[in-house]
Amino acid sequence: MVVTTRTRSPIRSNVGLKAVMAVTGILLVLFLIAHMLGNLKVFTGAMSFNHYAEWLRELGAPLLPSAGFLWIQRVGLLAAVLLHIGAATVLALRARAARPVRYAHRKKVRGSYAARTMRWGGVIILLFVVYHILDLTTGTLNPIGDPSRPYANVVADFAPARWYVTLFYTLAIVALGFHLRHGVFSALRSLGQQTPRGEQRARAVALVFAVALCAGYLLVPFAVLTGLVS
Ligand code: HEM
Repeated sequence: MVVTTRTRSPIRSNVGLKAVMAVTGILLVLFLIAHMLGNLKVFTGAMSFNHYAEWLRELGAPLLPSAGFLWIQRVGLLAAVLLHIGAATVLALRARAARPVRYAHRKKVRGSYAARTMRWGGVIILLFVVYHILDLTTGTLNPIGDPSRPYANVVADFAPARWYVTLFYTLAIVALGFHLRHGVFSALRSLGQQTPRGEQRARAVALVFAVALCAGYLLVPFAVLTGLVS
């Protein structure tokens, strides 16, 4: 009987670290869904969008101080991202150390499409988030940059003259889509039926989810670029 390394590796890998990746991944996905839906409120107009941003700041009052919820979310997201990257790094290093033929490394990496896109996709997403926070949270890199006017910031950001910003967002969101497709597929495959049929279903669900999320995010910059939102 021939058992390939690829079939065996998930069983050999550290279950605890995979669980950390899955739990933090789920938390990040929940944020991404909520954030995407919130962004779509831009289609309801400036007042409604700004009011939504204000509501986020006051969420949990009077129990929490102003922006208390946002800070809890920030700490939670940061912890989730750090744990997600930490677990991924340890798993990758262990997988590399477990490889019997080290000099075949390049060939293996090239052959492993998912692993390669996950690593570089993760780096692109991380760089994007840093830029994005300086752009739309602090306003440092935004032409308007007034945290109390998020609608105006978004419209200024994706103005046709700043097409390169839309291009950068698009590339980052597509990278996010690839990352999510593989991440969601891996999680569903671990949780669901480990049969060819189950795997096929997991692949389809992950693809539909990634495409829907990407489309939801991309609607906003393209609506501004085309003048639908102004
Ligand atoms: C075109 C797509 C996107 C738009 C229009 C958008 C819009 C915004 C806006 C307006 C804010 C500031 C909210 C406020 O301070 O009231 C924000 C914050 C943020 N966004 Fe996005 N976003 C997009 C995509 C993304 C993506 C793909 C991610 C993650 C990969 C992301 C992660 C964040 C984070 C972490 C914050 C900071 C939240 C905080 O203040 O704690 N965004 N976004």
